[in-house]
Amino acid sequence: MAVNLKGRNFLTLKDFTPDEIRYLLHLAADLKAKKRAGIRGNTLEGKNIVLLFEKTSTRTRCSFEIAAHDEGGHVTFLDSKSSQVGKKESMADSAKVLGRLFDGIEYRGYDQEVVECLAKNAGVPVWNGLTDIDHPTQALSDILTLTENTKKPLNKCKLVFCGDTRNNVAYCLMYICAKLGMHYAGWGPAELAPAEDVVSYCRTVAKETGAVIEFGESRELLKGADALYTDIWASMGEEDKIPERVKLLTPYRITKEVLDATENPDCIFLHCLPSFHDFETKMAKEQMALGYDIREVTDEVFLSPNSKVFDEAENRMHTIKAVIVATIGSV
Ligand code: CP
Ligand code: NVA
Repeated sequence: MAVNLKGRNFLTLKDFTPDEIRYLLHLAADLKAKKRAGIRGNTLEGKNIVLLFEKTSTRTRCSFEIAAHDEGGHVTFLDSKSSQVGKKESMADSAKVLGRLFDGIEYRGYDQEVVECLAKNAGVPVWNGLTDIDHPTQALSDILTLTENTKKPLNKCKLVFCGDTRNNVAYCLMYICAKLGMHYAGWGPAELAPAEDVVSYCRTVAKETGAVIEFGESRELLKGADALYTDIWASMGEEDKIPERVKLLTPYRITKEVLDATENPDCIFLHCLPSFHDFETKMAKEQMALGYDIREVTDEVFLSPNSKVFDEAENRMHTIKAVIVATIGSV
């Protein structure tokens, strides 16, 4: 059956079938090839989209802007400081107003309920650009990057997420791996294990797709990985947790030794970015001065040939373009 995502929200990959996810990945690869060939699209001509950010961003914001421009669309950026949203106007009212003006709304913020509220009230597609518990556009980019670096079909691939296995990026990866019949392993401390309902949802999906979903603290989990993935140890809004996270997660820092434990010389390293892999950032320096080494990965791995993090960052744009085009574009 042909896939048609017109008018759909993109709030979580849980809402999408395996075929729909594969369709978005193929569309992203096509759009990437088109961009590489210098072909400018027009599938978003006459479309206006708004980007609403309550948390900071480099990749997601730029990807939405470039993706829309590339296809002839127009973008408005709003943040919580310079708009009425949430302060003087409820999210439901804001959604009703923005839905009258725009053809699609991107939202990045804290609670998943907020993006759901926007979707319920806007009357136009709403795209989740990251919440505390999900980051669905990220997972599309990550899997596109994996497909570019392996000859294996995805249902034969193993991805190991290392560190804070209950964060937004870990969750969206669990969802996409479950949907695509992949092997997902979460390697991290029991204190940061994923929520029961998330695990149980993924294991239910896995029964149908053949996916494997496992967790633990043992390095055995790393064996046979096609991709090692990590993220910062304290997500946006969790900065006060840095001391406890450093204590819990230092054993899960990705070093060359950890990469070698995969026993796969072709294993790629992925990271959603931004990353602490050196002391070139204000935060890494400040925390180190307080005695906290917040690096989740060493430079040796981050800068190694196995690392595909900048391809992955570029793929954010191609996959986000696929989501916008599929939901409001003219193809
Ligand atoms: N990976 C990601 O979402 O990056 P930004 O926070 O820069 O958007
Ligand atoms: N887990 C990180 C992802 C950043 C893209 C955060 O939420 O800050």
